[in-house]
Amino acid sequence: MNDERIPPIPFWIKKQVHKPCWSLRYIIKSLFRDDLEVLIKKINKCKYVVLTDSGSTALTLGLKYLKNKRSSDKVMMPSYCCKSVANAIISAGLRPHFNDVNLKFQPQLGRTKVLATVVPHFHEMKSPIKQFRGVVIEDKAQRMQDPLRGKFGILSFNIGKQVQSTGGGALVTDDKRLADFVSEHLGVQGFWQTTTQLINYLLMVNLRPLTFFVYNILNKTGIVHREEDITKRYEAVNKKEVTFQPKKINFIQKKLTQSQLYNSNPIFTQKTRPILVKCRYLLMQELAKKGIESEWVNYPLHLQKKYQKYTSEDLTNTEKIWKQTIITRKE
Ligand SMILES: Cc1ncc(COP(=O)(O)O)c(C=O)c1O
Repeated sequence: MNDERIPPIPFWIKKQVHKPCWSLRYIIKSLFRDDLEVLIKKINKCKYVVLTDSGSTALTLGLKYLKNKRSSDKVMMPSYCCKSVANAIISAGLRPHFNDVNLKFQPQLGRTKVLATVVPHFHEMKSPIKQFRGVVIEDKAQRMQDPLRGKFGILSFNIGKQVQSTGGGALVTDDKRLADFVSEHLGVQGFWQTTTQLINYLLMVNLRPLTFFVYNILNKTGIVHREEDITKRYEAVNKKEVTFQPKKINFIQKKLTQSQLYNSNPIFTQKTRPILVKCRYLLMQELAKKGIESEWVNYPLHLQKKYQKYTSEDLTNTEKIWKQTIITRKE
C-alpha cells in the first residue's frame, strides 16, 4: 500500500482532531474584562507580552530584532515543522537551517553556528531547552502552559493549537527593548482580513463536517478529485511567495482567546495524541470508517522544493518518523 497518500475524509466526523473550547459564559465574561495580556503573563511567568495577529508575526518581529545584533544569518529549526516557522525566518530576511528531532519529536542540538535556534514543543509534548546554538527562541505554539525559557517565546491561537481563535498570537519575553521593538512594528489589521479569517475559521473548524460531506459528494461525481501525490500537492503550495505584514491581534481574536484561557483546565491537558505506526494510511482508513478524524502533519521542509536550497544537519530521524506519524484526538 502506498503510504504517500493524503488521508481519507471520514464520511461523518464523530471525533474531530481540532475543536475550540468555547463556552458562552466565558465569552461573555471576556467581553467585560480586558486582561488577556495579564493571563498570558501569569502562565508564562514573564514580564512582557505583545499580542499579535499570529505566531508567525511574533516570530518574524522577534527575529528582526535579533538580526540587528547579527552574527550569522542562519536560524536553526526542525525540518519536522510547519512551514510558517521557516516562512517567518525568511520574512525576517534570514535563512532557515534544519535540524533533526529524536523519536519523541524533540529537537536535537545542531553543530552549525547560527544566530538563533527555534525550539518547538511538538504535539503538546515538552521539549527540553538545552544548550542550543545561538539565541534560544521557545516556540510555544503547540504547548504554552510552562514558564518561559529562552530569550523569547511565541504563542499561537490558530486552528490546531491548544487555544483556538480565528488566529492570533503573542510574543512573551523578559526583555523590555525587544517587547518595545515588536510593539512599534505592528500594523493594524484590515476589516476584510478579519472577515476572511472568520469565514475561514468557520469552514475549517465549526462547519468542517459539513464541508467534508459536500466534498465527498463532489469527489464521487468527479467534479473535483483529491490529489494523491504529496509532492505535487506541496509543490503547488510552495509556489506562493512569503510575504508577512506584521499585524495586531483583532478584537474577536482577543476575546475568543481570553474566554478559553479563563477556562484553562481543559485546555492545558493534552488533547491530541501522535501515534507512530508503520503503515499510517491503513490506520487512518480504519479510523475514518468509525468517523474518527486523523491527520498527518509536518511534511519535512527539506523535502519541499521551496526549502531545498537551505542547509541541514543530519535528518535521519525526521525522514523516518514523519511518514509513520498521525495525529488523533485523545478523549
Ligand atoms: C510549531 C509552530 N510554530 C509556529 C506556528 C505559527 O503560528 P501561526 O499559525 O499563528 O502563525 C505554528 C502554526 O502552525 C506551529 O505549529
